[in-house]
Amino acid sequence: MSDIEKLVAEATAEFAGISEMALLEQAKARYLGKSGSVTELLKGLGKLAADERKRAGAAINSAKERIEAALNARRELLRHAALDAQLRAEALDITLPGRGQGSGGLHPVTRTLERIEALFRSIGFDVADGPEIEDDFHNFTALNTPENHPARSMHDTFYLENSPGLLLRTHTSPIQVRYMETHKPPIRIIAPGRVYRVDSDATHSPMFHQVEGLWIDENVSFADLKGVFTDFLRNFFEKPDLRTRFRPSFFPFTEPSAEIDMSCVFCEGNGCRVCSHTGWLEIAGSGMVHPNVLRHVGIDSEKYIGFAFGMGPDRLTMLRYGVNDLRLFFDGDLRFLSQFR
Ligand code: DAH
Repeated sequence: MSDIEKLVAEATAEFAGISEMALLEQAKARYLGKSGSVTELLKGLGKLAADERKRAGAAINSAKERIEAALNARRELLRHAALDAQLRAEALDITLPGRGQGSGGLHPVTRTLERIEALFRSIGFDVADGPEIEDDFHNFTALNTPENHPARSMHDTFYLENSPGLLLRTHTSPIQVRYMETHKPPIRIIAPGRVYRVDSDATHSPMFHQVEGLWIDENVSFADLKGVFTDFLRNFFEKPDLRTRFRPSFFPFTEPSAEIDMSCVFCEGNGCRVCSHTGWLEIAGSGMVHPNVLRHVGIDSEKYIGFAFGMGPDRLTMLRYGVNDLRLFFDGDLRFLSQFR
């Protein structure tokens, strides 16, 4: 084999052994660069005789072409290998199941609260708010609840440790007081919110919801209370025939006071398991605001009068959706909650 052919074989073998692009370029320089072996051969042509030069030139050029071809082939191969490696590294398994996108929804009690707010807004009531950590004055004293009233006992109320006089509000009625402290009549509000009591079973949760109502003006009567509340319940349950009944009761902050019952939405008042076969469901406390409450907030009780009520939206939600255990609302179990999406 001539020297030239040896050079081609050597270059081809060397290229084939290289698997890094940078090393391949260095090898190229050794053959085809300014002082590479092939270039040196070409430079030597000038010393040869004319016909010898022609033959040798052709042989060198052919060798050069073949070395270049071997180089390019190797370059291509390395480029492909690099691309393959990259594709393998970045591979996506498109057969994996998707992660999915859970769709959220409003809590059933939130739906009820929004519904109650919309219905009362439609007849001109504002929506008021108040703190869940209350003081003794707003939760009890201003609501005409004397120092020794049973509602104040440790049994019902969560008191804050190391914060004398502070407690978790036991009802939304203190919002009445706070609103009347800062607003002049006419006053027409509802006040939804969380309340807390030491109590827990299928129908009682230590945290539950109430919606307070309050209408104070110059001549608001018990008839207005009956009309507003009955109308609200009929709209809420979409039952135009729903009936209400006002049973005499006692609350320190109203006089007279009444417990509001509505005809059972399951049996239309005929008696069933839900209403304990009475035909009636207890739904709210209510009454005419006691003059002492108005006095506590500086409203002239000779001039102004009005009604208040406090109802349980959790109970309304159970009745509206046919849920029989209050605790389901607050367990956070998605199997239950996702039914309301
Ligand atoms: N605050 C009372 C309770 O939690 C409910 C209530 C009764 C609210 C009569 C009122 C009312 O505004 O007038 O048991």
